[in-house]
Amino acid sequence: MSRPQVTLKIATSMDGRIALANGVSQWITNSDSRARVHRMRADHDAVLVGVGTVLADDPLLTARTVPPPPRQPVRIVADSQLRTPAHARLLASQGLGKVVLASAGPATGYPEGADENGPEIWVVPGEDGKVSPQRLLDRCAVEGLSRVFLEGGGKLAASFIKSGLVDTIQWFRAPILIGGDGLPAVAALGLSEMPDAPRWRTAATERIGDDTLETYVRA
Ligand SMILES: NC(=O)c1ccc[n+]([C@@H]2O[C@H](COP(=O)([O-])OP(=O)(O)OC[C@H]3O[C@@H](n4cnc5c(N)ncnc54)[C@H](OP(=O)(O)O)[C@@H]3O)[C@@H](O)[C@H]2O)c1
Repeated sequence: MSRPQVTLKIATSMDGRIALANGVSQWITNSDSRARVHRMRADHDAVLVGVGTVLADDPLLTARTVPPPPRQPVRIVADSQLRTPAHARLLASQGLGKVVLASAGPATGYPEGADENGPEIWVVPGEDGKVSPQRLLDRCAVEGLSRVFLEGGGKLAASFIKSGLVDTIQWFRAPILIGGDGLPAVAALGLSEMPDAPRWRTAATERIGDDTLETYVRA
């Protein structure tokens, strides 16, 4: 079974920041860029974020296209300790499509009062106590999810890049500056030699109003 293809989407300022220091990230890019993101979601089998993004933004992660897609992508949260609040919009909107919490430990007791209508829990631990990107993708493959749209944040993006599991990057860049106190698009990679830096090939560049969309594929 081949592993799912992973597209990383990043929406940043010119200086590669995904949010202000206080976590505010809405909205960096323009409405046409955001509409494009919804079409990209619809083109994938699953949308994946880290629990940091759920806690900061309380996103729905549905594909809101016109017309609506024939089916919603499965929404997955990398959430080692099941910190997604029971009142998260993601969980309240399970009628729109399946929600999965990928955890690193046993799922007992989550969320309080959970019934058969609760989120699906996948236990896919890594050696660092977090969710294992590789095991998460293995499980996606078993579930028939072959195209995964990774929407961040910076920490989860860094984990997938370090594991060599990102195939394509869709990088939306708005002509604003946030500065060094903003959150970086990709968290620490722990590199000490320049040749070790993961390298990408620019496959396309497109203007979306004042924004730029760059498509990178793994070199
Ligand atoms: N502009 C954009 O495109 C964009 C997109 C998304 C988010 N954001 C912004 O980014 C911020 C959140 O980013 P973030 O970096 O703090 O959080 P994040 O990457 O969304 O989530 C990180 C958390 O995910 C969990 N996790 C589970 N497995 C992991 C693994 N293998 N590697 C890394 N993390 C793993 C960890 O928490 P546990 O250990 O508890 O599981 C970790 O703290 C928010 O301010 C949000 O608004 C911006």
